[in-house]
Amino acid sequence: MKKTAIAHSNIAFIKYWGKKDELLKLPENSSISMNLSNMYTTTTVEFNSQLKNDTVLFDGQTDRNVTHRVSEHLDRIRKIAKSTHFANVVTQNTFPSDTGLSSSASGFAALTLASLQALGVRKSAKELSIISRLGSGSACRSIPDGFVQWLESDQSDESYAYSLYPPSYWGIADIVAIVSTGKKDIPTTTGMVTTQTSPFWPLRKQLLPQKIEKIKTYLKIRDFEKFGELVESEALEMHAIMLTSKPSLIYWQSGTLEVMKNVKKWRDEGISCYFTINTGQDVHILCQKKDVDVVVSKLATLSLLQKTIINWPSRGSYLTNAHLF
Ligand code: DP6
Repeated sequence: MKKTAIAHSNIAFIKYWGKKDELLKLPENSSISMNLSNMYTTTTVEFNSQLKNDTVLFDGQTDRNVTHRVSEHLDRIRKIAKSTHFANVVTQNTFPSDTGLSSSASGFAALTLASLQALGVRKSAKELSIISRLGSGSACRSIPDGFVQWLESDQSDESYAYSLYPPSYWGIADIVAIVSTGKKDIPTTTGMVTTQTSPFWPLRKQLLPQKIEKIKTYLKIRDFEKFGELVESEALEMHAIMLTSKPSLIYWQSGTLEVMKNVKKWRDEGISCYFTINTGQDVHILCQKKDVDVVVSKLATLSLLQKTIINWPSRGSYLTNAHLF
């Protein structure tokens, strides 16, 4: 049975950076995110008893590393479904992969939903989130809709994401400023291993629970300025941990800094916008609907800007009949 799923990427307002269990991908802390409307993965999966191994076509290419990571996840799915069949997988992103735009989040969420369904296994949203997490931590946040919290726990079956608010709750935009399509040199999973080596980690860890509560309050009252200030300072704090880990991690490029500095300048000029950055060079700029046009036109004047993607809060993962093969 062939099944196809779509999953949207997500941007974390309070970040996941550090695991307490590498294998189970149990995060050090809870995180809060929003699904992104125009950045998504479509994945079609078909299991077949005649196949001798899994085949994976990703954005029209085959790549040994991608096939290996997909196959590892399919092993988890086969175990759950008690199947021994290999699969043909075709997957496509609407945005660049491996540049820090969280393609593993949408990728593993779509793969989880499509492959379980292809084997005739139905799971609850909570179970789908947990299984997606085993593929890539942030993928668990791409299962539920809209604004999402991923719960920290020592137990695998209690570390999952759920929806705090539906996409229609708050019309804020996440404008992605792409400043280079170069692949990041250190993958997220590798980079995250050294989180706890930063001398600032113990303080971050201690203060994170309060931060989670604060961001939830700002979401609840929809106070965009307080929300944006906290999101931006959280991104800088995560990067401070990266910069001071051993070995240090520097994901920013010249274009990243150009956008960061200008966002602050535009704010001084009265435009309410704030940045956040993941593991890569590209920058997410958050603003309200009324400011999208002005932010996009300001971004277009920057020398290192290549492209922008405008996103709105989105649903999570779902099935479609638009198969890729
Ligand atoms: C910086 O979920 O990609 O984007 O669990 O090792 O696959 P693995 O990592 P991943 O990490 C995302 C890290 C981040 C912050 C975030 O999205 O919360």
